[in-house]
Amino acid sequence: MLLEVKDLSKAYGDQSPVFSALSFTVAAGETVAVVGPSGCGKSTLLNCIGGLDRPSSGLVIINGQAITGLSDAEMAVCRATTIGFVFQDHHLLPQLSAEENVLLPTLALPNRPDEVKARAFAQELLAQVGLSGKEHRRPAQLSGGERQRVALARALINRPKLILADEPTGALDQATATIVSDLLVTLNKQAGTALIVVTHSPTLAQRMSRQIDFAVGATA
Ligand SMILES: Nc1ncnc2c1ncn2[C@@H]1O[C@H](COP(=O)(O)OP(=O)(O)OP(=O)(O)O)[C@@H](O)[C@H]1O
Ligand SMILES: [Mg+2]
Repeated sequence: MLLEVKDLSKAYGDQSPVFSALSFTVAAGETVAVVGPSGCGKSTLLNCIGGLDRPSSGLVIINGQAITGLSDAEMAVCRATTIGFVFQDHHLLPQLSAEENVLLPTLALPNRPDEVKARAFAQELLAQVGLSGKEHRRPAQLSGGERQRVALARALINRPKLILADEPTGALDQATATIVSDLLVTLNKQAGTALIVVTHSPTLAQRMSRQIDFAVGATA
């Protein structure tokens, strides 16, 4: 199993839990939409799965390995080799160009790829998200939707087995949202990349094979 979430709970400080005893699995190549109202814990769940936040209790198991037991360095390797993350607020580095931002996750790989090939792939990904010619712009010289598309290209650079995408179409107009959604679905169909997509868009949610709805008790 690619991902197993077992009895996962998260509480911040002494506040009531954001979610508790959440369990579900995601097989290789599966697509899942995570839906529910603002503040219900969707980003928190993705951050716990991607090892960016630590759950209060329970297990996140990726490819049979409990990531909750990994050191930060081990987690960084697991993330670089397995997971592509599209953040809700893109998290691009302002001093780097679009292309350099896309290449950033390659620096965390244990075996660094050939630089020329990596650069060519970064350019190919930027072209796929409609940003040819803007590779050398910094985030401040791009629109919000363009930044989100750079973030998507960055999530794909290491050819991850699992994409965790937090509102990947939230900042986009209808046409660009469709391009990004199509890209995710194509990636799943052609490369077998599993997707967990947090979205408020019913159109995107319906394109995933199942939904985890926080509004109805957060079970899969
Ligand atoms: N670092 C933190 N410290 C304390 N509380 C937090 C922290 N991060 C998130 N929360 C709280 O946890 C709850 C879940 O937040 P989260 O960001 O996961 O929601 P969400 O479902 O992604 O919402 P949205 O749809 O608005 O993005 C919220 O009530 C939020 O205020
Ligand atoms: Mg969120």
